[in-house]
Amino acid sequence: MMKNIPEIVFATNNSHKLEEARAILEGKVKVMSLAEIGCHDDIPETADTLEGNALIKARWVKERYGYDCFADDTGLMVEALGGAPGVYSARYAGEHCSPADNIKLLLKNLSGKTDRRARFATVVALILGNEEYLFEGEVKGMIAEENSGTAGFGYDPVFVPENSTLSFAEMAPEDKNAISHRGRAMAKLSEFLSINNQ
Ligand code: IMP
Repeated sequence: MMKNIPEIVFATNNSHKLEEARAILEGKVKVMSLAEIGCHDDIPETADTLEGNALIKARWVKERYGYDCFADDTGLMVEALGGAPGVYSARYAGEHCSPADNIKLLLKNLSGKTDRRARFATVVALILGNEEYLFEGEVKGMIAEENSGTAGFGYDPVFVPENSTLSFAEMAPEDKNAISHRGRAMAKLSEFLSINNQ
């Protein structure tokens, strides 16, 4: 007999992230967007840790809309900048700045620096019933001197993962997913959900 695929909300408005999650979780859970459950809230991200922000978003949806849910929060930590922009990566160049503004400021702050090491870290918070779970993923790499590629989003055009000559923005989505911070955290989520659904 065919098993029913459970539904779960991904608390994000980022269409790239939704596509990534749907590709990774295909066949395990049906991933619903915030729009699909009628949530158009601007969920505040007021914590000063990735875990804190991921939990705020997941709890927001669970408490107000009643759905099992997961949410992620990501930061880019740059060695030569003492771990900045970190949890503030989305607002690095200001409250309503674009990804291009963020990259511009990052490259400016790194100009003349030879240490280009950086890492992306993601925390995924999952709420199933009354239980909360956290999954982490990380990828190390370097910040390039200039943008390359047009795929992906955010800092992808300047992030070159280790053991690669391509930026994330030059990679096919499945190649990025296989090694990325969020891909790794989602793979843990996917494994957990498979075990839970048996
Ligand atoms: P958030 O987790 O969506 O709040 O992302 C924080 C910041 O990191 C934003 O500026 C995003 O654009 C950026 N970001 C998150 N995930 C990625 C990614 O996979 N590649 C590049 N930038 C990302």
